[in-house]
Amino acid sequence: MEIKVTLGDITRIEAGAIIVNFFEGMTALEGEASAVDKALDGAISRLIEQGEIKGKLHQNTLIHTLGRLPAARVVVAGLGKKEELTSDRVRGAIAETCRLLRNKYVDSVATFPQGAGIAEITAEQSACVLTEGALLGTYTFRQHITREAEHGEIKQLTIVTADRNSLPGLEQGYNKGRILAEATNLARDMANEPPNYMTPSDMAKKATGLAESYGLEVKVLEREQMLELGMGALLGVAQASRQPPKFIVLNYKGKDTAEINIALIGKGITFDSGGISIKPSEGMVEMKGDMAGGAAVIAAMGAIAQLKPGINVLAIIAATENLPGGNALKPGDILTAMGGKTIEVISTDAEGRLTLADALGYARQNGAGQIVDVATLTGAMRVALGDICTGALGNNQELINKVITAGAEAGERIWQMPMYEEYKEQNKSEVADIKNVGGKSAGAITAAQFLAEFAGDTPWVHLDIAGTFMSEEEKNYQPKGATGVAVRTLVNLVLSLATGRN
Ligand code: BES
Ligand code: ZN
Ligand code: ZN
Repeated sequence: MEIKVTLGDITRIEAGAIIVNFFEGMTALEGEASAVDKALDGAISRLIEQGEIKGKLHQNTLIHTLGRLPAARVVVAGLGKKEELTSDRVRGAIAETCRLLRNKYVDSVATFPQGAGIAEITAEQSACVLTEGALLGTYTFRQHITREAEHGEIKQLTIVTADRNSLPGLEQGYNKGRILAEATNLARDMANEPPNYMTPSDMAKKATGLAESYGLEVKVLEREQMLELGMGALLGVAQASRQPPKFIVLNYKGKDTAEINIALIGKGITFDSGGISIKPSEGMVEMKGDMAGGAAVIAAMGAIAQLKPGINVLAIIAATENLPGGNALKPGDILTAMGGKTIEVISTDAEGRLTLADALGYARQNGAGQIVDVATLTGAMRVALGDICTGALGNNQELINKVITAGAEAGERIWQMPMYEEYKEQNKSEVADIKNVGGKSAGAITAAQFLAEFAGDTPWVHLDIAGTFMSEEEKNYQPKGATGVAVRTLVNLVLSLATGRN
């Protein structure tokens, strides 16, 4: 979809459809909607009077203009109650409308900066969320489908304004929205790919390709180098897989110093069978998405490289499969992580924290000033929070707050979970420094407490996306399948750290 911003009068635009808004509980039309209504001889007002158009959020009413306007159709999109409007509602509403029009094979659409001037939404923000909503909501993953789609494609979305002064802001908003949405869709693509098409080597290739496109430094460490660095925990997980593990490092330099302002770490298990502690076969297919955190970090780095914030960012993805085999890691094995801590393996299915232990070790050894990790880490987090919000845990409240705020801006909800000292007890091992499972209760927290041991005193936040990395149903700007969650949160976080706002 191509999106552009133009100066003009929406009633004069030639397009397959133009979209105007109506708010629930209002009686009269406003602004663009009112002008369009006049051109249609009051057709919209009549439908409001008759009760067909109520303005409820996601209510879309399609009207054929039959030659009264240059546009063939008008959609009146409900945005709910005006006083309840948020920029995330604009994202969701444009997504729903675009899917409706795509299903009707409409290929060009025009609208105005929806929501601008209401609820403190600026024109720039409006263009940003309209662009995000349209691109995220019409995302499809058809990579391996040979039959034709049962819907059309919106090729052009035009954001029309009559206010010349708002053009630069709209352009900027659109540009940011496009970069954020394309990065999210890239992360979705990676997590939606089947595990035979998204091996650790494939992940490394994606990262390398992105680095070449946007001028990031990239390094991919092989088994031998992992061994030299003492990454025994990661190597333990990787040891039964025929696919070589890849330790992917991306480096963005936004300022001319050697310091690393923040490290972003993503879990990169390209398939999690559970290993010897094998998972039940039912639902195992979902574990192709166990690299969604890694995908989010790689995609976020692409966006960061395009938006050019003035700080240095290091990204780390320890990519491997987790498989059983004659050479596999066993419950009871003891591994030595980078930095020398020993880990008793209770379950080979708690593999994410093993790989992250070495990723955290690497980030710290390279002097990361603060760390955020994103991981599909525990079924327990999904049980706790469902697919409504991501769980956050960490050792630094200030950074946790910044991450939550960056998420809110993106429409990604993040809920903090407690990290009381007492939870650490559950991870104590009798034969090693720590064990990788802390029992049945508080599984999401004990997993985070395990990671905390390896984050040490570096300010660190862990995002457990086990509940949010996938959507079982289509809703708002989220089609079924991988969500690309955390990409926009991470990018917003880095942008806010660079400008000092937040
Ligand atoms: N990748 C899983 C966690 C997961 C579950 C992610 C469901 C997304 C959806 C992780 O590696 C895992 O298997 N965790 C175990 C830990 C347990 C053995 C302590 C779990 O949650 O059951
Ligand atoms: Zn697992
Ligand atoms: Zn896993």
